[in-house]
Amino acid sequence: MRLGRSLLSRVMESYETQVGADVALAAHFLKQHELVAIPTETVYGLAGHAGSETAIHRIYAAKARPLSNPLIIHTDNLEKIHALALDLPPLAIRLFETFSPGPLTILLPKRAQVLDVVTAGSPLAAFRIPNHPLLLRLLCLLDFPLVAPSANRFMSISPTTADHVRQQLDGQIPYILDGGACAAGIESTVIGIESPDSIRIYRQGAITEEALQAHCRIVAAPTLAAGGAPHSPGMLAHHYAPKTPLYFVPHFSEILPQVANKSVGLLQFDQILPQYPSNNQYVLSKSGSLEEAARRLYQLLYELDSGHYDLILTVGVPETGLGRAINDRLRRASQPVTKPFKL
Ligand code: TXA
Ligand code: MG
Repeated sequence: MRLGRSLLSRVMESYETQVGADVALAAHFLKQHELVAIPTETVYGLAGHAGSETAIHRIYAAKARPLSNPLIIHTDNLEKIHALALDLPPLAIRLFETFSPGPLTILLPKRAQVLDVVTAGSPLAAFRIPNHPLLLRLLCLLDFPLVAPSANRFMSISPTTADHVRQQLDGQIPYILDGGACAAGIESTVIGIESPDSIRIYRQGAITEEALQAHCRIVAAPTLAAGGAPHSPGMLAHHYAPKTPLYFVPHFSEILPQVANKSVGLLQFDQILPQYPSNNQYVLSKSGSLEEAARRLYQLLYELDSGHYDLILTVGVPETGLGRAINDRLRRASQPVTKPFKL
């Protein structure tokens, strides 16, 4: 369901967006049910008072995001999650204690006080304890949790710097809390608790399958339901896309001759093609580190998008560890690749 036109016009506002590191000012706006872009270790979030329908409608309006896509609740400690979740199984407690503060989001049955608009009507709510010093200070100052989707317009590239947020939301929010470039650079891993010792991964993210496997079993990943309807609302097949068409291809060698008359940007893992202009090649990590690649992924997509290319090509990164989350984002950002290749 999209926001109705009358509701949209009621909640569309215009601001002079300020950027700074003033936690007290951020708290002031949030208490007024205004929105603040917040730094996290993953990506910047667009935060609002989790108990305020006004703030939540402002989030959906600023992002132009459908109300069917639920929001993660951010707190600075596990006790606050205890107060909002109906049931906190021992496995969830163990995983929070191991990985939090950090990029792990767990779906748990919600108490009635968690607004239905936060979970898009689902009985499960998503909780996470983010790891960023400014944000932890802010959450500690507030006597309410924050809901925060990534601070990008719906279907656009997630922001990993205050400047990326400004490019997308300037004039739509009063304040961006600038906490520098995000350390992990890719969103949190979203999981559900399946049994006393197993989980399901709903979104690959900054906590890897390998790290989780040391603590529990992982049951098969959900697939898109028949007709393309996602099992988890966030699992839209197309997402995170730059404005320039991006194609995730098996090999450059097949495609490049077919686009010889186009200007093409290549998103590379750790190497460049020697026979291709190096200025058009964007390397995620010269040393072949998946951590560095994750940290730089969205930054490079922003750069590629402002490079005025006709198209972007990538073959992705090794499908292991953080590489799964990186490739997942690139697949969702990709246009369908046809044979023969057609733009
Ligand atoms: O790293 C992150 O998780 C960032 C930072 C800002 O915390 N946030 C983020 O939020 O990526 P967002 O809204 O862009 O993505 C949240 C994902 C979506 O895929 C959403 O569908 C899923 O989590 N999600 C949230 N609440 C859910 C719920 N109640 N049930 C199922 N999925 C949920
Ligand atoms: Mg997002």
